[in-house]
Amino acid sequence: MTGPVILVVGARPNFMKIAPISAELKKRNINQILLHTGQHYDDNMSKVFFEDLAMPQPDIYLGIGSGSHAYQTAKVMVEFEKVCREHEPSMVVVVGDVNSTVACSMVCAKERIPCAHVEAGLRSFDRDMPEEINRLVTDAIADYLLTPSPDGDDNLRNEGVSEERIVRVGNVMIDSLLNNINKSKSSQIHHELSISGQMYAVLTLHRPSNVDDKSAFIRILDALEKIGERIAIVFPLHPRTKNRAEEFGLTERIKRIPNIVLTGPAGYLDFIALMAGAKLILTDSGGLQEESTALGIPCLTLRENTERPVTVTEGTNTIVGNDTKVIIQAAMNILDTGGKSGRVPDLWDGNTAHRIADLIEKIIR
Ligand code: UD1
Repeated sequence: MTGPVILVVGARPNFMKIAPISAELKKRNINQILLHTGQHYDDNMSKVFFEDLAMPQPDIYLGIGSGSHAYQTAKVMVEFEKVCREHEPSMVVVVGDVNSTVACSMVCAKERIPCAHVEAGLRSFDRDMPEEINRLVTDAIADYLLTPSPDGDDNLRNEGVSEERIVRVGNVMIDSLLNNINKSKSSQIHHELSISGQMYAVLTLHRPSNVDDKSAFIRILDALEKIGERIAIVFPLHPRTKNRAEEFGLTERIKRIPNIVLTGPAGYLDFIALMAGAKLILTDSGGLQEESTALGIPCLTLRENTERPVTVTEGTNTIVGNDTKVIIQAAMNILDTGGKSGRVPDLWDGNTAHRIADLIEKIIR
């Protein structure tokens, strides 16, 4: 096959996974098209990542924007099908678990275009999470399932996936982290937020289960009020969270949390700099659970489950849900004792993009 390899990005957590793959394909002179669906479109959710990750501008931008799950998924499918018919790609690479991921993989399955899913096999076993549906569907239909850790392989085998489709490549997001950690040292973010030299925690929150549910949101705020008495809390607000806080009338309450440092979504380098200097990370994101494990920083995951269990069994992550008391107790324990130390899982070594590119070359040649 001679067509280009299409690399798909759609939402914020995709950019740091595609950047190292794109760079590796470029090194090998493999013809690629970088396609952005536009699921995330604000400059601070999208454009800044291209700059920070030194990624070329997208060759194709679908401009999908916000909408319901069905709307986003369907609109990406309609537009992506046209792109595939025009460019006849030799293969498509999708990453993660966002609506753009499942939409493009479905188009590939029907157009019979080989599709590789990077970050395959992760399961929270919680179908209330929209991302879990995206993971299950994508892994059911993608041809090559590239897993970050052994639990991914096991989950796929348990679903009856044949061995030939499963390839453990490691965690590509850690490639980006390691590639950029030194560069992030010149970030001015601590100075800009007036927290230089201070002890602080980093908090991110955007899961529907935490911020679309008012009582869950309030339980978390109750915990933050106590934690803020001990340590500054840097809270870059996700657009979903900002919107929900306003709808629920919680904005003023958030602003009143002791020592809260509110800011907008941070760029990649600024965010790495924030994480690297934090005493503690509180999050409901998937990516942060992995990045905190790679950096050796204690992480409390404000969810009932995780699709990334190695961060708990090997890394620095603890699952605490959204119960006020449990969150406070776990945070105080970390502040008092330094929290659990972990190890970095195998193949989270910065060479995952290299292994992925080896596979892509094998497939297309
Ligand atoms: C999406 C992904 C999630 C990922 C998260 C990271 C799905 C199902 N969810 O969730 O897996 O962890 O991205 O951020 O694909 N908005 C803006 N500007 C933007 C993007 C979104 O204002 O650039 C607003 C939207 O209008 C919407 C809200 O933020 O009101 C949520 O955006 P959406 O793309 O639906 O989902 P996320 O919660 O960001």
